[in-house]
Amino acid sequence: MDRFKALMISKAEGEPGGQRVAWTTLAPEELMEGEVLVRVTHSTINYKDGLAITGKAPILRRWPMIPGIDLAGIVEASDVPDYKPGDAVLVTGCGLGEAHYGGYAQYARLKAEWLVPLPEGLSAADAMAIGTAGFTAMLCIMGLEAHHVTPDKGPALVTGAAGGVGSIAVAVLAGLGYEVHASTGRPEEHDYLTGLGAKEIVDRAELSEPSKRPLQKERWAGAVDAVGSHTLANVLAQTRFRGAVAACGLAQGPDLVTTVMPFILRAVTLVGINSVEVPRAERLEAWRRLARDLERDKLASMTTTRPLSDVTELAGEIVRGRVRGRIVLEVD
Ligand SMILES: NC(=O)c1ccc[n+]([C@@H]2O[C@H](COP(=O)([O-])OP(=O)(O)OC[C@H]3O[C@@H](n4cnc5c(N)ncnc54)[C@H](OP(=O)(O)O)[C@@H]3O)[C@@H](O)[C@H]2O)c1
Repeated sequence: MDRFKALMISKAEGEPGGQRVAWTTLAPEELMEGEVLVRVTHSTINYKDGLAITGKAPILRRWPMIPGIDLAGIVEASDVPDYKPGDAVLVTGCGLGEAHYGGYAQYARLKAEWLVPLPEGLSAADAMAIGTAGFTAMLCIMGLEAHHVTPDKGPALVTGAAGGVGSIAVAVLAGLGYEVHASTGRPEEHDYLTGLGAKEIVDRAELSEPSKRPLQKERWAGAVDAVGSHTLANVLAQTRFRGAVAACGLAQGPDLVTTVMPFILRAVTLVGINSVEVPRAERLEAWRRLARDLERDKLASMTTTRPLSDVTELAGEIVRGRVRGRIVLEVD
């Protein structure tokens, strides 16, 4: 096999973020250890990839690093019986693009335990349109379901709704029959969000100021929160009795100034979501649910396709909150 293209982040004193991001070529022997060699056909860009490429937050745990926390492709060679050349697979999280060479390259060598066989009914491009963002949205929804938040209990709120996690959460919740309220700071995306199934739009300014009262008027039975900070504090204070909030993000900030009142007086549950390390059975179940519960025309309406070579430009846009929905990166 010849040398192949990869994006590499290296330490560079004096450069912005203390790092240099450049295209390079690698030989297959230079890939990291793993039982399965995958020819990457598609990847995507998540908020975390944007942070890694711009150096705005310390995402990398090993240097140098090929970024890209998600990839989909075809098995080229395998040392394990579970996978054989030609199998279509995907990987999200599992330390890709952080501690192990990731998806922004034509090839990746991976641990077999990280691979998910491409679910029936999803193409590699669909899988990357979903990516870590969509996988996280589904983990949030499964977290709400585990705490008995069902459509009959009342509306479900999604914050950061026009972003990647938010768009997929809106579409899936609406498809499952929830009355979805979508919080966004982008008035120009209202029609987009109602098209995904949102019944009501909440101006994000309503939620983004410091919470004035520990308990506010009860509004939502459940929420998927991609924003954190004051937004999460306000969402907790407005969650109905015995409701639940799945917290997965920090687009506003990592801080959380709240009181115990929503927990001890309204029996609200705060469900934490980490999409990187997920037990295999739960990982497979979330992908099965995504293949079943996410309407493909809605997925298409939230997805833009770009070549992998655009990824450094897109990194800046995603950290500025300028990306709508999801982006598929074509690697070939
Ligand atoms: N826990 C996990 O495993 C996990 C996995 C994936 C993602 N995440 C986190 O989830 C968050 C969303 O990820 P994503 O891929 O969906 O990113 P994204 O596409 O950039 O979406 C983030 C959205 O948050 C909203 N937002 C941005 N800045 C804000 C601010 N200052 N105040 C309030 N809202 C703001 C915007 O939505 P509107 O324009 O609609 O207002 C933006 O589109 C990120 O913090 C990411 O790190 C966590």
